[in-house]
Amino acid sequence: MTETQPPPSAIAGRAAPPTSLSFARSLSDNAIGIFPPEAFEEEVVFRRVFGRQQIIMSRAAGIQHILVDNWANYRRTAAGIRILRPLLGKGLLLSQGEDWRRQRRTLAPAFAPRTVPIVAGHVARAAAGSVTDLRAAGARGRPVDLLAAMQFLALEIAGTSMFSLEMARYGAELRGLITRYAVRLGRPNLLDFLLPVAIPSPRDVLRWRFRRRWLDFIRRIIAARRAQLPAGAPRDLFDLMAAATDPESGAVFPPARLADEVATMIVAGHETTAVALFWSLYLLAGAPAIQERLAAEVAGIDLGPDAAAAALSVLVYTRAVVQEAMRLYPPAFTLARMAISDDLAGDVPIKAGAVVLIAPWVLHRHRRLWKEPEVFDPLRFLPGAPPPDRFVYLPFGIGPRVCIGAQFALTEAVLVLATLIQNFRIERADDTPVTVRAIVTTQPDPPPPFLLHRRC
Ligand code: HEM
Repeated sequence: MTETQPPPSAIAGRAAPPTSLSFARSLSDNAIGIFPPEAFEEEVVFRRVFGRQQIIMSRAAGIQHILVDNWANYRRTAAGIRILRPLLGKGLLLSQGEDWRRQRRTLAPAFAPRTVPIVAGHVARAAAGSVTDLRAAGARGRPVDLLAAMQFLALEIAGTSMFSLEMARYGAELRGLITRYAVRLGRPNLLDFLLPVAIPSPRDVLRWRFRRRWLDFIRRIIAARRAQLPAGAPRDLFDLMAAATDPESGAVFPPARLADEVATMIVAGHETTAVALFWSLYLLAGAPAIQERLAAEVAGIDLGPDAAAAALSVLVYTRAVVQEAMRLYPPAFTLARMAISDDLAGDVPIKAGAVVLIAPWVLHRHRRLWKEPEVFDPLRFLPGAPPPDRFVYLPFGIGPRVCIGAQFALTEAVLVLATLIQNFRIERADDTPVTVRAIVTTQPDPPPPFLLHRRC
């Protein structure tokens, strides 16, 4: 059997091989283009890109093997590390091996369920501010850009819930830095795939120049936060992370590492949650009956800072809407791994150096895995409905490297959506077709305008 031949028992397809150039172009312009139509029909697709075996894996047993049972044999890809390192440094998302294990167990308590009330309070305050802003922006039938509004809000929440800082002081600079990186330096180009990581490309030089400014900014934020008076109880994630100690050694994070963790949490956490919220609102605007059912659930519920955490347990339908929106538009559209040694994932042979794509974008719309996969139907996620296979619904990944902020993100998305629909009936302002553009996250192209009608 050659490496590109699937085993006879596999339901597998062979993708028309993309040229490496067209693959790189798609990744840079719109990564949705890297998934061929047969990926939505077949469980395993084999192809070669940049001279390497590449496998699009949509078989539950194979996914379980790669992300859970033998996860240590799979690391992040060299191109991914190269692009994200200047932003995330040696923080949790990019670390490997023992270094990763130590960071993860040190940070875990800062994201434990007991921290939900702290996060919920910050989210509730920021969501109320957003309602005020949107009332003004959408007054007298003016169309509103809800993508921009959700990006602004998610960054506000990341800043306030981590630092309890007035984002009025730092928000614009933070947004400017992140946007500049995302639209230029964060886009992969051909050299990112061709050059060994040790050899910098011209773009790498610019990326590392950017890193100096970025770190300077993160350090200023940390210094401002440290200058605040110490509190008895933790006020925010920064208090929890700064006090976090390794359960074995008792060590706290050294300052440089704390800066990388803070940068990682801001970058990994805000754009993903912003697009989850955007797509939830977009889908609700196109499904008035579903929007009204959600409005009925949230009517009269106290979503203020002191009551928000308790309200989460009754926002069952709102949560199902968020989960279904993340099925159709998973903010993290693919997980990419490179095999360290030869392996057998279920019955699929994987060569050392092969790249495996486990893609929520494909899995969540896979025609063999879902009934009517293109239909927006939150009932799929209501208690009592048959639960989806836990290896084919992966908005937050799975296994030891599952998203550490999943609870935080769901708390934020559910509370913000509930607050917005409690206040507004949302509809599209025009019927321009909207497509999906995946660069770092799944973005709408173009971001459509909406009309907001006050409910109260
Ligand atoms: C809707 C929002 C979010 C989505 C869809 C999302 C998705 C994901 C996914 C799919 C992974 C796994 C990546 C992989 O295995 O390659 C991940 C990892 C991670 N996420 Fe999230 N995320 C979200 C929000 C957040 C938030 C709010 C934070 C922090 C406050 C965060 C921090 C992280 C970190 C640090 C990792 C790396 C974990 C590790 O490698 O141990 N994420 N996220």
